[in-house]
Amino acid sequence: MKRAITDQITLHNGVTMPQHGFGVYKITDPNEMGTTIHKALEVGYRSFDTAQMYENEAILGEVLHNGPVPRRELFITTKINNNNQGYDQSLFTFEESLADLQLSYLDLLLVHWPSEKHFFETWRAFERLYEEKMVQAIGVCNFQIHHLEKLKTKANVMPMVNQIEVHPYMTQAPLREYLQEQNIAVEAWSPLARGKVFQEDALVELGQVYRKTPAQIILRWHLQHGAIFIPKSSTPTRIEENADIYDFKLSVEDMAKIDSLNINHRTGPDPDKVYPAI
Ligand SMILES: NC(=O)c1ccc[n+]([C@@H]2O[C@H](COP(=O)([O-])OP(=O)(O)OC[C@H]3O[C@@H](n4cnc5c(N)ncnc54)[C@H](OP(=O)(O)O)[C@@H]3O)[C@@H](O)[C@H]2O)c1
Repeated sequence: MKRAITDQITLHNGVTMPQHGFGVYKITDPNEMGTTIHKALEVGYRSFDTAQMYENEAILGEVLHNGPVPRRELFITTKINNNNQGYDQSLFTFEESLADLQLSYLDLLLVHWPSEKHFFETWRAFERLYEEKMVQAIGVCNFQIHHLEKLKTKANVMPMVNQIEVHPYMTQAPLREYLQEQNIAVEAWSPLARGKVFQEDALVELGQVYRKTPAQIILRWHLQHGAIFIPKSSTPTRIEENADIYDFKLSVEDMAKIDSLNINHRTGPDPDKVYPAI
């Protein structure tokens, strides 16, 4: 029988999180959210990644709340927006997010970008929410090694997850190695490089060898690297395609071939430029 989206990653506090989740960035139309999430649930997705910045927590919450899958089987992530960082604002806007998502607790709360100004105060709020069991796990996004080393000097609880840009053009090998040593799970955002890598000869050729699309080859590469990954699509056929990666295995040589496509190319901002600016 074909395997489906069921693999779980155990975070350093023992909480389990689906390895293969679903991103909802840019979905702001309620109808589009409805069809997209229903299709994603149908093909097996249980983990959904939103953010205050995406301005779609309420429509995601509405669809999931009225959807066919019980709350306890879902894993919901949101992120505190840059302009909501700091102790009081993080706590206050977390409550708003929770209400918008129609939840009584959140599975994973993330700091969206590192902020020099609010660095420790935001994290203090996260630790409080974690202690109060309002969130099952806390983490960060876009933290470089030096940000995590700085956090370590004062944190009582270190992040369970670092959500970072990872795809074949931005493989992040040194940061991933560091995160593994620190027992912080890697979560890949823009895992498909927003479609910018599909034309790459090596991926097209591997697609022919394994009879899969370049998107499926890339997602399988994330899976075999042990990363959590959260592709976004609001096209029903692509949602199915992106879930259909459990009936083949990339060889060690082919994994290395994809690793070698790295050119340290970001599709999004550089965290070191954002950090002093927010
Ligand atoms: N923490 C952060 O700072 C951060 C930053 C960026 C993103 N994220 C999270 O990561 C999630 C994923 O990243 P992303 O949305 O930027 O990019 P992505 O998942 O790499 O790519 C999404 C794009 O690829 C297209 N696509 C998806 N599957 C495809 C397929 N099988 N064939 C061809 N095209 C396909 C989608 O088009 P259609 O939708 O039109 O099908 C969409 O335009 C986001 O939704 C968000 O939750 C986090």
